[in-house]
Amino acid sequence: MHSVSTLGYMVFGVNDLAAWEAFAVNVLGLQAGRRVPGESLGLRMDDYEQRILLVRNDLDDFLAAGWEFESDAELEAFVVQTRAQGIDVAEADAEVAEQRRVSRLFVCCDPDGIRHEFYCGAYRTTSRDTFRSSVLRGAFSTGRLGAGHFVTVPRQSAPARAFCERVLGLKLSDSINGDAAPGVNLDVAFFHARTGRHHSLAIADVPFPVHKRIHHVMVECVDPNDVGLAYDRCKQAGVPILMELGHHPNDQMFSFYMISPSGFAIEFGAGGIVVDDATWEVKRYAELSDWGHKLNPPPGPAAGTAQ
Ligand SMILES: [Fe+2]
Repeated sequence: MHSVSTLGYMVFGVNDLAAWEAFAVNVLGLQAGRRVPGESLGLRMDDYEQRILLVRNDLDDFLAAGWEFESDAELEAFVVQTRAQGIDVAEADAEVAEQRRVSRLFVCCDPDGIRHEFYCGAYRTTSRDTFRSSVLRGAFSTGRLGAGHFVTVPRQSAPARAFCERVLGLKLSDSINGDAAPGVNLDVAFFHARTGRHHSLAIADVPFPVHKRIHHVMVECVDPNDVGLAYDRCKQAGVPILMELGHHPNDQMFSFYMISPSGFAIEFGAGGIVVDDATWEVKRYAELSDWGHKLNPPPGPAAGTAQ
């Protein structure tokens, strides 16, 4: 079966580009890249021209996942396979591919309306334009592992999971059925792509209404000190913390969760493991975190736009 290689980029539709730029650069430590004033802003994490694209959009939500392929041939074979499954996959026009900073791009939608984009030929920066963060001590963990992960909260988990496994070709890493807080039970299935980041996509069944398509996205840094430094930056800037510092038992991620200007959460972590399919055993865990990750009460009405 042809499957996606890694989650290469993410697209967020945001209603306040200026607030997002300040948050992304000063708190997360991303670097501002290609800008179309009033319309979009590319954010860099490494030598890709962009890993996160912010597009002005009143949805204020996750718009698209960009799945990478290593060659045209690999991408084309995947598209043929996906169309044979009855999925409507369209080739994006040159303007959209250019906005995503990739040479070739196909698009489809999943059962919950999230766009899945399949590409090859991501634009890279020149050696004279290496990634620079104004606040990060080390680097983001990207490369073959991609931009990070995202966790969806589908209306129904069965079709979402079928899309994940049968269309994208992701494999189950493990699952957790545990309490985020007393009486708040979550059932989460974690899926990895070919290059092995523990999960590029997870599907969460939650017992409360979520007003966004995702629960959170995750970006990972190499130096665990950068997690603590990012936590301090959030406190100083008044960015709400959804979950305090903690550690997940499955992907071994040391992280905390902050609330982005769009209201969905961002997990900022280090230490996530890489899956080797040759030796991996799928497990089921009974707790979301082996320590920490204390869930804070929901922030006040202004919190979603706080810096
Ligand atoms: Fe996560």
